[in-house]
Amino acid sequence: MALKTERFIKKEISKIKRKVGKDFAVCATSGGVDSMVCAFMAHRALGRNLIALFIDDGLMREKEPQKVARILKKRGIRTVIINAAKDFLKALEGKKDPEDMRKAFRDTFYKTLGKSARSYKAKYLIQGTIAADVRETKGKIKSQHNVLSQIGISPKRYGLSIIEPLVKLYKPDVRKVGKALGLPKIIYERMPFPGPGLATRIVGEVTPSRVKVVRKATAIVEKELNKLKPFQAFAVLLNDRATGVKKGQRAFGNIIVIRSVQSKNALTATPTKISYKILEKIQKRIVREIPQVTKVLYDLSPKPPSTIEYI
Ligand code: XMP
Repeated sequence: MALKTERFIKKEISKIKRKVGKDFAVCATSGGVDSMVCAFMAHRALGRNLIALFIDDGLMREKEPQKVARILKKRGIRTVIINAAKDFLKALEGKKDPEDMRKAFRDTFYKTLGKSARSYKAKYLIQGTIAADVRETKGKIKSQHNVLSQIGISPKRYGLSIIEPLVKLYKPDVRKVGKALGLPKIIYERMPFPGPGLATRIVGEVTPSRVKVVRKATAIVEKELNKLKPFQAFAVLLNDRATGVKKGQRAFGNIIVIRSVQSKNALTATPTKISYKILEKIQKRIVREIPQVTKVLYDLSPKPPSTIEYI
């Protein structure tokens, strides 16, 4: 059934107002579509009693914290950047199994939020979890970072009460709500970016130097593919390496995968049909601009049987 956007917004805003009352609330804002829509809606409900927390986990895209904070502040939303990169990298250290990494990320995420909420005397966390996140986590496909109570983990463990205004919606409806709320088009049309950020695009251990490689490659892939309007396009760093030749010398370097998919709701996806010319341009830029990389691949896998991200 088609979503009655205005009615939905009104209803959710009054629910937030009723629950939070005169208290303070924080919202976790990563800059992705869902969390931004959630922040804008919560701000309409609570005004100055809402604090948007941008957790800089060290796993974001280039210049992301400043970009996102600028957009939120421009709309009068109180915004705080929390630098927690060290905590996240420490929690991920030595972990190679995807689910171990995801659970370690989730735990650090809520610990950081719980601590910050307490420091602002906020009772509530308003978060942008959507239906696909819950479905994938409950279906044991992958533990998404923003699903707790639905899998039997009480938010009280982190000292939080959680409000999830978008939890029944899938991505196309979230975008509609974003548009109706007056978000900038570059935000409500933005490619989804997973909460655990670049960690979902690193196979094997997440280390600062590996994050740097995938961050640079991601910027190149996004820049070159944005005009094709894919659902999501990004780079992945594999755990394997491959022999190459750089500046006439043998180099046993990193392998980067170009991943770009078309999808409606992230539950299924097909690879973007990219011309060879564009693929070649991306390949050349990646090996030229990132010295550690010797090989670039293009991923042709649909979902299912693959998932969109790699871990
Ligand atoms: P997969 O990789 O399961 O991803 O096909 C489906 C969609 O979910 C995003 N994704 C996440 N989003 N927290 C999020 O907020 C997560 O832990 C997470 N893991 C995957 C992914 O980018 C895609 O849009």
